[in-house]
Amino acid sequence: MKLPTLKSSKFALRPLRDSDATSITKNANEKLVAMNMSDSFPYPYSFKDAKAFIRLRKSNKEGHISYVIEIDGLAVGVVSLHLNSDKKTYKGTFGYWLGKHYWGRGIMSDAVGMVSKWAFKSLKLKRLDAHVYLWNKGSAKVLLKNGFRKEGLLRNYVRKSGKILDVLLFSKIAK
Ligand SMILES: CC(C)(COP(=O)(O)OP(=O)(O)OC[C@H]1O[C@@H](n2cnc3c(N)ncnc32)[C@H](O)[C@@H]1OP(=O)(O)O)[C@@H](O)C(=O)NCCC(=O)NCCS
Repeated sequence: MKLPTLKSSKFALRPLRDSDATSITKNANEKLVAMNMSDSFPYPYSFKDAKAFIRLRKSNKEGHISYVIEIDGLAVGVVSLHLNSDKKTYKGTFGYWLGKHYWGRGIMSDAVGMVSKWAFKSLKLKRLDAHVYLWNKGSAKVLLKNGFRKEGLLRNYVRKSGKILDVLLFSKIAK
């Protein structure tokens, strides 16, 4: 799928490029980012990890759409949607992170809003959702600000750093 570039006054959302590996490594290699992501997100995050991530997402083997958040020519974060694998796509699950240096400027609130709008309109999705650890107030707020609702608590749902944890489920459905 060819992703259109989406622009705001603060950043651009555009497809991944091979040349993003250095910048992705620099921004992803942060404990405070990794602790809020699934166990598959590496820490420390190496250049090799970034290369592998870009290769995998560009191959689209797992049904992910991945947007890079570009600021001043640098890939400073990623917003992904994991689409359902039925014949007809109708829902997607968000995953996102932003380099720590860029936190608290409203960037992810805008990015999730822009990708949601595009996914409902252009992909004609019926549902978007996201899994959030109980301590991740920032991510919960990003979703609530974009009209997502807390749908429930998924008990003993994921393994994270050797522990089985509950996660909050947030969702938004097409109007
Ligand atoms: C969560 C994350 C994506 C937020 O990105 P961001 O661009 O800093 O978010 P925003 O600036 O849009 O902030 C959204 C709101 O959350 C609030 N917020 C941010 N971090 C917070 C925190 N730790 N505790 C409480 N509120 C927080 C902001 O103040 C803002 O609210 P406001 O609009 O009322 O001021 C970013 O911190 C991050 O990448 N974290 C690590 C990875 C991660 O958590 N990914 C999501 C996994 S579900």
